[in-house]
Amino acid sequence: MTAITRRRFAACSAGLIWAAGLPRMAVSAAAPTVSLSDGTAVPAMGQGSARLGQGRRALADEEQAMSTGLSLGMTLIDTAEIYGDGRAEQLIGRVIEGRRDSVFLVSKVWPSHATPAGIRSACSASLARLETDHLDLYLLHWPDRVKDLADVVDTFEQLRAGGQIRRWGVSNFGVADLDRLFHIPAGDRCATNQVPYSLADRKAEREILPWCAQHRMPIMAYSPLGGEGAHVLQNPAVRRIAASRGASAAAVALAWAMRSGTVITIPESGSVAHVRENAAALTLNLERDELRQLDEAFPA
Ligand SMILES: NC(=O)c1ccc[n+]([C@@H]2O[C@H](COP(=O)([O-])OP(=O)(O)OC[C@H]3O[C@@H](n4cnc5c(N)ncnc54)[C@H](OP(=O)(O)O)[C@@H]3O)[C@@H](O)[C@H]2O)c1
Repeated sequence: MTAITRRRFAACSAGLIWAAGLPRMAVSAAAPTVSLSDGTAVPAMGQGSARLGQGRRALADEEQAMSTGLSLGMTLIDTAEIYGDGRAEQLIGRVIEGRRDSVFLVSKVWPSHATPAGIRSACSASLARLETDHLDLYLLHWPDRVKDLADVVDTFEQLRAGGQIRRWGVSNFGVADLDRLFHIPAGDRCATNQVPYSLADRKAEREILPWCAQHRMPIMAYSPLGGEGAHVLQNPAVRRIAASRGASAAAVALAWAMRSGTVITIPESGSVAHVRENAAALTLNLERDELRQLDEAFPA
């Protein structure tokens, strides 16, 4: 795997990453990156949006939180057409206005739209809500109920050729789904598989992470704090390590998720204070003994 590791990245003196196949992306000198299978370097930590724009907080507060994350190096944004029926995408459209080129934008198509015409129409609608002319990455949200995966790949490839998307990938694929995908023509152009992965949910380590490593494909880890309620942050071992490092529990959980250099993590927050805590993970390298303590608290 050619991923730029966190330590190697920190050794780079330049503050700019020249991302292959992308418009030039400015990334903070401290921000670690992960290489996609096409060699593109993307931020190792981005921001999720599943519950944003839906009235949990004032819109202005959530926009400020995401904007703060962008300024702190969390420049990959994950969304989906289904999040708040497009309201998350609309919020993101407002946040990235005027700085689209410094954001790596990911959205997803829902399986009930996964026909050639359905994907094209869903993609156009996402682009309109995001107020952009392209997505950096477009994912199939779930494999279930997809009638013809070859049609999905073919349509993604056509969108890529047309410039509406720069690359495509999948989400919630198990290894049987991935094997099926890689036997389809151009199926091996899949850039990533977005799956749940956190201290509290290490199932991906059994089969998915080894499969992806073998195929030089990073995973994108969702629900890295344990999902809504962020229950991982209550764990005594996480809290003890956080206290000893003068960091937040969130920073410890996120640094753990990113530790290999082959996992992109996408915590969600609508709070500026929480986003600041999360961004601190970008510069937190956990020591071997701390990783051992976390393994004991959350067995693989
Ligand atoms: N592909 C899929 O099927 C799929 C499924 C689920 C999620 N996702 C993506 O992954 C993203 C993240 O997953 P997720 O939202 O399920 O889980 P998560 O990021 O593990 O947790 C989000 C929760 O943690 C809280 N939180 C964030 N930072 C915190 C901090 N520093 N201290 C305390 N609490 C904090 C948030 O509340 P506050 O807003 O109050 O901070 C929110 O309730 C989603 O937004 C979505 O983009 C994808």
